[in-house]
Amino acid sequence: MRRAIYPGSFDPVTNGHLDVIERARKLFDEVIVAVAHNDEKQPLFSLKERLDLLRETASKINNVRIVKFKGLLVNFAQAQKAGAVIRGLRAVSDFEFEFQMALMNRKLDAAVETIFLMPKEEYTYLSSRIVKEIARLGGDISSFVPTCVAKALNRKFTR
Ligand code: PNS
Repeated sequence: MRRAIYPGSFDPVTNGHLDVIERARKLFDEVIVAVAHNDEKQPLFSLKERLDLLRETASKINNVRIVKFKGLLVNFAQAQKAGAVIRGLRAVSDFEFEFQMALMNRKLDAAVETIFLMPKEEYTYLSSRIVKEIARLGGDISSFVPTCVAKALNRKFTR
């Protein structure tokens, strides 16, 4: 069984994330989308909201499982018997942090390999942070996120 973990904050899930999930699931028998429960970050969406939005959009995809995780990623990967960590790479600006994280994870556990997947070019400029900012300022986000996410964002910012 070739199993991979796709970890992230997913605050919220975007079309770019979904594109990476779609690519990863063709390469692995199972992809576990792991939503980080990180006390240090202050996400817009709660852990439950982030999980629900992912489940609404990605759980129908064959061989994809949505779960939460806490603590070190390599420990979680070990517990799930996953040999690979998937990360999306959009631009050179992503590279430095991703490179550092991949090598640190390798240092922590040499058995876990990081694999970078590039989303469709049209999603290269897309990030959860930018989508939240556009939504907050009243812009149209309908082509960047699934409909349920667009609705959830609009609800957050029209209260
Ligand atoms: O979507 P993000 O915020 O870029 O995801 C970052 C995430 C959750 C993948 C990263 O912060 C992580 O792996 N956190 C778990 C804690 C951990 O293992 N830290 C050491 C990584 S070198």
